[in-house]
Amino acid sequence: MKSTKPNSMKNIAVLCSGGDAPGMNAAVRAVVRYGIYHGLKVYGISRGYTGLLEGALEEMSLRSVANIIQRGGTIIKTNRCKAFFQKRTRAEAVHLLRRKHIDGLVVIGGDGSYAGAHLMAAENENFPVVCVPGTIDNDIYGSEYTIGFDTAVNTAVDAIDKIRDTATSHDRVFLVEVMGRTSAEIAARVGLSGGAESILIPDASGVVYSEKTVRKLVRSVLRSARQGKLSSIIVVCEGEKKDATYRLAKALKLKAKVEPRVAILGHVQRGGVPTAMDRTMASLMGAEAVQALLEGERDVAIGVTQGSISRILLKSILGKQKKPDLKMIRLTEILAS
Ligand code: F6P
Repeated sequence: MKSTKPNSMKNIAVLCSGGDAPGMNAAVRAVVRYGIYHGLKVYGISRGYTGLLEGALEEMSLRSVANIIQRGGTIIKTNRCKAFFQKRTRAEAVHLLRRKHIDGLVVIGGDGSYAGAHLMAAENENFPVVCVPGTIDNDIYGSEYTIGFDTAVNTAVDAIDKIRDTATSHDRVFLVEVMGRTSAEIAARVGLSGGAESILIPDASGVVYSEKTVRKLVRSVLRSARQGKLSSIIVVCEGEKKDATYRLAKALKLKAKVEPRVAILGHVQRGGVPTAMDRTMASLMGAEAVQALLEGERDVAIGVTQGSISRILLKSILGKQKKPDLKMIRLTEILAS
């Protein structure tokens, strides 16, 4: 929604929230430099909403974001702030921003951070907030892309290439768990590009381990054996419950009489040098967030729609979930034959 008032934006702030993602630094750099280019003062808030509540704001300069485009993590730090679930806390945050003469806020984060940002804006006379999708999970409804996804996928595929060497040498079945929580985006992309035999994803309630998944896993391993394959890579999305991959391995051992190995890739997927794709998307989206504030937008998210940078009302995307790409998962299995 655009403001009808002439834009009087002078000072803006930027924070990162939720799990970090490679490319967040490139987004911060874009917000700072695009903002300064347009005559704004840009403040960095350290440690997400927690830092905001503590008043941890510092003015950033062109030089303070030098040499960070290639760095993983986020120089302004991030965290998950439970206190922000409370309305009173969100009101305090806006009060603090107004006291510091901040006219608009850019939030770089995932869906939880978006929810906090939307409520904060909506409950406080539409305080201008623009969100930028920063999460390796690529699970934000309404955007085809989130910053960090490409780097995380490449890190996981690189790990799978290495695991394949040892799997082949020992004729072993490997269950490789990737991040993404309940979103199958990372698993599907990693499975297809890593040449996996199968991809196991959570059901609608976010659970990966079930009788159905065990049957699918056993079928895949037995089919591979019939085709003369002596080793297999199965990609497993982590899901809501953290022990699913070990339970799947145990069930596989019992039912298919193999000695599987488990590799949990974990937080390694959240670190490292961002790919050119992530740096590009972060730069485009960071600048677009500032542009949106300058044009009087409030309560919107920057995203990618049909390959182009777009703006989406936060209220139209919250609570909605992307559907898993079942075609990609099926294709992975066909191509693994
Ligand atoms: O949302 C990003 C993510 O990396 C998920 O893929 C994962 O489930 C979660 O964060 C892990 O969070 P934490 O760093 O708090 O353990």
